[in-house]
Amino acid sequence: MLPESFDYHSAFSRNLGWVTETEQEILRSKRIAIAGLGGVGGSHLLTLTRLGIGNFNIADLDIFEQENFNRQAGASIRHVGREKADVLEELALDINPQLKFVKFSSGVDVDNLDQFLEGVDLYVDALDFFAVDIRQAVFAACAEKGIPAITAAPLGMGVAFLAFLPGQMTFEEYFRLAGQPEDEQLLRFLLGLSPAMLQVKYLIDDTRLDLNAHKGPSTAMACELCAGMAGTHALKILLNRGEVPAAPRGLHFDAYRNKMAKTWRPMGNDNPIQRLGLKLVRKRLSAKLAAPRQSPEQVLANPIERILDYARWAPSGDNTQPWQFELLSDEHLLIHTRDTRDWCVYDLAGRASQTSVGTLLENIAIAARSEGLDASFTLQDPTVDAEPVIDVRFSALTYSSDEASLLPYIKTRSVQRRPLSTRPLMAMHKHALEAAVGPGYRVIWIEGRQKKWQITRLLLRAAGIRLTIPEVYQVHKKIIHWGAQFSHDRIPDQALGADALTTKMMQWALQSWGRVKTMNRYFAGTLMPRIQLDLIPALRCATHFVIVADVARDATQDYLSGGRATQRFWLTATKLGLQLQPEMTPLIFATYAREGRRFTDSADKLGDADTVRVELDALTGGEVDAVFMGRLGFGASATSRSLRKTKAQLSTSEQ
Ligand SMILES: Cc1cc2nc3c(=O)[nH]c(=O)nc-3n(C[C@H](O)[C@H](O)[C@H](O)COP(=O)(O)O)c2cc1C
Repeated sequence: MLPESFDYHSAFSRNLGWVTETEQEILRSKRIAIAGLGGVGGSHLLTLTRLGIGNFNIADLDIFEQENFNRQAGASIRHVGREKADVLEELALDINPQLKFVKFSSGVDVDNLDQFLEGVDLYVDALDFFAVDIRQAVFAACAEKGIPAITAAPLGMGVAFLAFLPGQMTFEEYFRLAGQPEDEQLLRFLLGLSPAMLQVKYLIDDTRLDLNAHKGPSTAMACELCAGMAGTHALKILLNRGEVPAAPRGLHFDAYRNKMAKTWRPMGNDNPIQRLGLKLVRKRLSAKLAAPRQSPEQVLANPIERILDYARWAPSGDNTQPWQFELLSDEHLLIHTRDTRDWCVYDLAGRASQTSVGTLLENIAIAARSEGLDASFTLQDPTVDAEPVIDVRFSALTYSSDEASLLPYIKTRSVQRRPLSTRPLMAMHKHALEAAVGPGYRVIWIEGRQKKWQITRLLLRAAGIRLTIPEVYQVHKKIIHWGAQFSHDRIPDQALGADALTTKMMQWALQSWGRVKTMNRYFAGTLMPRIQLDLIPALRCATHFVIVADVARDATQDYLSGGRATQRFWLTATKLGLQLQPEMTPLIFATYAREGRRFTDSADKLGDADTVRVELDALTGGEVDAVFMGRLGFGASATSRSLRKTKAQLSTSEQ
């Protein structure tokens, strides 16, 4: 029954201006067939209904399931288990109760094709990507009956559009699918839809594309873009409003990359460029199929295992991950720590390693809270300062907090050593970061032109020590993973922040101490690394910071606690969209100078370390116990990063 208040002219009056009143009447009289009401079909139907189209033939044999929720119009809790065709008919009638529907609830097939296309002015393809046979049949029938047919494919966060117009190139002439095996047909369909392939650049996990299971990743944004693109061309075709790009021409708009590609492939998939593209994709695909299949992400049943899976993403100096886990029971765990004082000049008292272990403990505490658990940490022997063993016990949380958890940022937090934006932090950013370190700590900001130059000078002086003493050479040789974007147990060279040429030069020089000396003496070997790794990043950031302990630290416990404060600061920065790079070498050399520690045989460099101490004190307003130092700024996340050792490598029982 029609509600009395519904009036077609008033419901669609806001289209007027873009269409005339007469054109609106024409749209009202048109019949559009839509096959498939899944990813894009539902959005097509609702968009075309709002355009004022008056008649639809719709076909779908599926019911709504939770897997559809991320993108499909009509997919919602109250529609789970219901037929898509019924739900979408209801939703469209709710917009225009005068709509006339012919519904094909068992889908479209060769037997009902004629009926499905009866009286149709335009066919909008929305069949499942994998429904190759019936798609071919529908397009062939449209060509035969002189019905314009369009398809808008959701690809990544964009849309690829093709039109097959009466008397022009047909679907089969363009895609050339006949007689091909199914895999090849799918490949040809994909590459034909999008010769520009704008989306592949940002597919971050291609294991989610499973051709055998007929599943692929998708987004709601792409489906909505498809509805916009198809609706616009439907309007142009139905109102005879001028040229519509028809096959062999195609359009691909990618919102993510902010790019629009207009493609032209005479002979369709037989075009030499397409043939080459197909060859490349085939090769890539067969390599992917031949490669050992990555096992799907394991679902961890035990809360402690889940907690440790987060914990292991803690940062550590040079990605050394100086810890191993011994699981004693469901509530009890030992962390065996190591330090790197025997080979790492930055860790001569094991303090850097303890700071890292502190970041691990903070991760455990955060992950435990998300499991409804409270983690308590005790040093097995508080008097031991080297390689402490930490006893961790979990108990039910006795308090609940509404505070948003930092948990999601544990795995995305990463060092960014490249130049960042100089846009200053706002007061709210600083407040959040100052609050994050918690009681007992405070943050000193080093910003503004003059202070930035001062700290840059300080960093360059520290780099002068770092890049020229044999003690550091040993460390760099060990911890850089050459030719790598990711590394499980070291730092990949691409994450260092130098350009390809400088990286190559560093790799060559670091083969032997003799080479380093030759480079430094005759070729100003430290110049480019200092400019790229220290000078430019020091200037290109929002601010530098020093986290300071209110009371001077001396016990292991204090260093662990400093690490926990540091991790809260770093995770909060990540949550705020900021990138962070630690700048620990000046702080470490200054501490060595203060303690009178002879960390190198070079008397000159010991003198430089003392100057670093004096300059650092000047920047922090006097002698302070600096826990952590670094720089912050807005910018994209690093594309190259350190990963972590496997669970087995981090477990004492699996050694
Ligand atoms: C105590 C400590 C000191 C660090 N010192 C530096 C440093 O001086 N310069 C730097 O670029 N990164 C430094 N890092 C970052 C580590 O190299 C980095 O955390 C590690 O390689 C893991 O990479 P990810 O943080 O990207 O996961 C330090 C990290 C910690 C925990």
